[in-house]
Amino acid sequence: MNITGTGSAHPSLTVTNEMLADFLDTSDEWIVTRTGIKQRQIISNERLEDLAATAADNALTDAGIKASELDFIICSNVVNEYITPSMSCIIQGKIGAECPCIDINGACAGFIYALDMANSFFQSKSEINTILIVCAEEPTRMVDWQQRNTCVLFGDGAGAVVLTRGNDFKAVKLTSISKSEALYQMRKLESTPFISKDEPDGPLVMKGQDVFKLAVAASLKDIECVVRESGNTYDDVDHYLLHQANIRIIETIRNYINQSEEKFPHNIENYGNTSSASIPILLDELNRNKQLKCGDTLVLSAFGAGFTAGACLFKWSKN
Ligand code: COA
Repeated sequence: MNITGTGSAHPSLTVTNEMLADFLDTSDEWIVTRTGIKQRQIISNERLEDLAATAADNALTDAGIKASELDFIICSNVVNEYITPSMSCIIQGKIGAECPCIDINGACAGFIYALDMANSFFQSKSEINTILIVCAEEPTRMVDWQQRNTCVLFGDGAGAVVLTRGNDFKAVKLTSISKSEALYQMRKLESTPFISKDEPDGPLVMKGQDVFKLAVAASLKDIECVVRESGNTYDDVDHYLLHQANIRIIETIRNYINQSEEKFPHNIENYGNTSSASIPILLDELNRNKQLKCGDTLVLSAFGAGFTAGACLFKWSKN
């Protein structure tokens, strides 16, 4: 499996740390020091499906193909305004594709899970030659905007890749540990005349320090696994694209495997944590800025609610 196109799209509204300090007991200094985030793009008048379709269109243009050539669409999404139909079906209509579609919810690690699924489709379905993955997320609609420990962390956006058959995808490792108490949100469903239980309904709940520790431990294991299984060393990897959740998590992982700062590109300062969209958005930025060379080795690694985590290693063969 090879990546032949990347794309992304962001909401138009920029919200700086100073703007948050106007209505929250927080400061630019606290947020930058503890997270690395300076600003984020937040959905105001846009719809997530439109951002998703724009990211998809940009990836298709970069790949030089038409939507009608797609054989499958996978959308990674945690939450959006539609309970049903799936976001991938909505994207399909907006971009003018006709192929089968499915959504997955792998939380912030969704892009790695989607890549593994796509790779399996190429191996098991001879009729599939081109797959679109779109990660479209609006985590700013999950948090309580009076809770400074969660709302400052997130931003919205969409990232996409076009995949074709090839040998660039070298190794993948997925990890899931049932630990919902560290990071979860529960919402009330429609009532029925028969419901007699209490149903929690509230914003995202997060034990920040627990998530931090789980993230570092799982990411290190996953990264070690894909580097070893592909016959590489940490030094052989040119770029480590880590989930953009907290610059201190990225730095802790980087220090542990003793690699240079240049190998860990980041854009968390501009976008915050855009959930599963964060890695494809970063990949698109590097691709468009010509920071990836043909033959480069990339490791992607992400973690999120579940607790889920995953890493993969692939070669970059696009010019
Ligand atoms: N502004 C100012 N103070 C804040 C704050 C904010 N936005 N958020 C929390 N604080 C305060 C806390 O209330 C606490 O105050 P206290 O000592 O008076 O009780 C103090 O800062 C320290 O809080 P703590 O939670 O220990 O900080 P931390 O160093 O662990 O940083 C996170 C908090 C959330 C930034 C950090 O734990 C983290 O990033 N965890 C991972 C979260 C994550 O990645 N989630 C997404 C997963 S996909």
